[in-house]
Amino acid sequence: ELSQIIKLDATDSTNLYLRNLMRSQKLSDYTVVVTQKQAKGRGQMGTSWQSEAGKNLTFSVLKLFKSLPSACQFNLNICVSLAVTDVLRELNIPDISVKWPNDIMSGSSKICGILIENVLKGHVIPSSVIGIGLNVNQTNFIGLNKVTSLKLQVGENFDLEELLQQILEKLKLHLSKVEEKTFPELLPSYEAMLFRKDKPSTFKDQKGNMFMGFIRGVSPEGQLVVELEDKIFQTYGLKEVSLLY
Ligand code: BTN
Repeated sequence: ELSQIIKLDATDSTNLYLRNLMRSQKLSDYTVVVTQKQAKGRGQMGTSWQSEAGKNLTFSVLKLFKSLPSACQFNLNICVSLAVTDVLRELNIPDISVKWPNDIMSGSSKICGILIENVLKGHVIPSSVIGIGLNVNQTNFIGLNKVTSLKLQVGENFDLEELLQQILEKLKLHLSKVEEKTFPELLPSYEAMLFRKDKPSTFKDQKGNMFMGFIRGVSPEGQLVVELEDKIFQTYGLKEVSLLY
């Protein structure tokens, strides 16, 4: 079984394409679907992902696991985030960090989004579809705030094919650790990359209330740990809080 790269001109969403394909045939580890254009690119929590056709990387990778406990889900977020940040740092893209749980930032703008969709069987994850949208050569983001691309950050065009290979290589490197290493072993390198870590930050809760705090890290459940006041810690799950600045 060779891992294959399926190249498309257009599709609704590479995550959906891969999930549908999984239903009709047995796919091997690291099957990749990449497209020039997505009609319905999907983001986290029901948002959409906008990307100018042919300018950026929009792709999904199938990862099969032997026995990954669902409690270890966040290890996946860590490994995928680190694969992308490794590549961006090697390319000297300035000030790369990870905005919890897995938005990749350059300075205070988002440069890459990640959508991980896990298949669940009881308490294990047999496979995951890892969707990555990296802004590469696009320079206009009309109507979008705090978004950037490799080209905007360093002023040159990048070869999409070459970038894809670089990311796949790092994904294989980091994902090989997901089943071998424990959360405490993986956490430090992720926390070291955390956006606004230890800086005074403003958050908004579900009710729209704003509050101040310091991001201190991530809990074993993958929740964001915020220090509200001296030694008063609170953890937040997805949707419970958003970081404003
Ligand atoms: C986010 O930041 O909310 C996640 C964005 C993920 C976008 C990628 S593009 C390739 C793959 N296919 C999709 O429909 N979404 C992901």
